[in-house]
Amino acid sequence: MKLKKVFVTGILTAVLLSGCGSQSNNTISRNASTSDDSSSPASTDEIENYTRYADYTPVKAEDAGITSGSAGNILVAYFSRSSNTSLDGVDAVSSASLQVQEDGTAEGNAQQMAEWIADETGGDLYPIQTMYTYPVDYDQTVDVGEGQDSDGVHPLLINPIDLSSYDMIYLVYPIWHYTLPAPMVSFLEDYDLSGKTVCCFTTSGGSGFGDTIEKIQKAEPDADIVEGITVSQSSVADAEAEVRSAAADLQTSYAPAQEENMTEKQTIQIQIGDQTFTAELEDNETAAAFREKLPLTLQMQELNGNEKYAYDVSLPSDAESVGTIQAGDLMLYDDDCLVLFYDSFSTSYSYTKIGHITDPDGLADAVGNGSVQITFSAE
Ligand SMILES: Cc1cc2nc3c(=O)[nH]c(=O)nc-3n(C[C@H](O)[C@H](O)[C@H](O)COP(=O)(O)O)c2cc1C
Repeated sequence: MKLKKVFVTGILTAVLLSGCGSQSNNTISRNASTSDDSSSPASTDEIENYTRYADYTPVKAEDAGITSGSAGNILVAYFSRSSNTSLDGVDAVSSASLQVQEDGTAEGNAQQMAEWIADETGGDLYPIQTMYTYPVDYDQTVDVGEGQDSDGVHPLLINPIDLSSYDMIYLVYPIWHYTLPAPMVSFLEDYDLSGKTVCCFTTSGGSGFGDTIEKIQKAEPDADIVEGITVSQSSVADAEAEVRSAAADLQTSYAPAQEENMTEKQTIQIQIGDQTFTAELEDNETAAAFREKLPLTLQMQELNGNEKYAYDVSLPSDAESVGTIQAGDLMLYDDDCLVLFYDSFSTSYSYTKIGHITDPDGLADAVGNGSVQITFSAE
């Protein structure tokens, strides 16, 4: 059984370390410049510290990015072996640590749980990723994880995220060597979760939460740390209802405090032919400036079967990588191109969000295949 290796090598390491007289202290020095720029070459020290426990070639991780949800103030951050290694050629069906999806792709247990939670709560989904992937081989990963834990190695993370807009954070992670995986320790070191509600969900071979709740509370003394549920690696496939229900209950319990801070969103009307759609505006400078321009009638051009656009709508911009576009999104491209999307898809482009049509049913038919006249008006 795979887990046995954890226990056996754990004892071995303890013996070896006590034989040396003192525990080594090879914490990787992590700072903003290295974690902000994942393309910068890591020092020999970093690679050495990261890979000293197993014989494999270090591989730079591929950026998995954030998937936006609808809630706005909820983040589901997860660490999972799947998003920190290459699963090419791995037999997902026989692995206790992987869930096979309908499309045949494999996902880690924590990743699967995080996706259910994000879908249930409308939270943004964020994979915590190390700069270097872990070995493909499971047992080697156990060796590396255990070595990092006992040597206090906190691996460099990539994809820094701005947490300021989140009030509630679901942290989803596996138990490694009875405790937090080293990358989770890195995450807690890199980010200040003060004032936020942090709901913890774990998956493991049987170690439950281990000592992780205490460790997270110690690392984040000014955050409200809440125990969610723990799911055994062998039960994840059947745990969807349980995970969703626990996540929803926590959201209900902690939602009132968040609702107090939420201001009612401003709405505008979007007239296309004889149909009128209502859109909620973002609470930002761009949306406010757009509202000032209304009423506005534009001849909007067709692009790619998913958007209508019009130039010469100059607005203040603060573009961000949006990840996923939803049908009904109204955005600014560059600083003068208004875009109304009528289909959903993933994108690597950056936009400034302006608003979103609350019920985009019928939008694609209303805008048709070619250019179309659209009137935007404040209520
Ligand atoms: C490096 C490593 C260490 C582990 N240590 C433990 C442990 O101490 N106790 C336990 O119950 N399971 C342990 N496991 C099993 C994982 O917690 C379990 O398979 C989990 O469901 C994996 O989630 P993931 O697929 O999202 O990575 C370990 C797995 C790995 C890779």
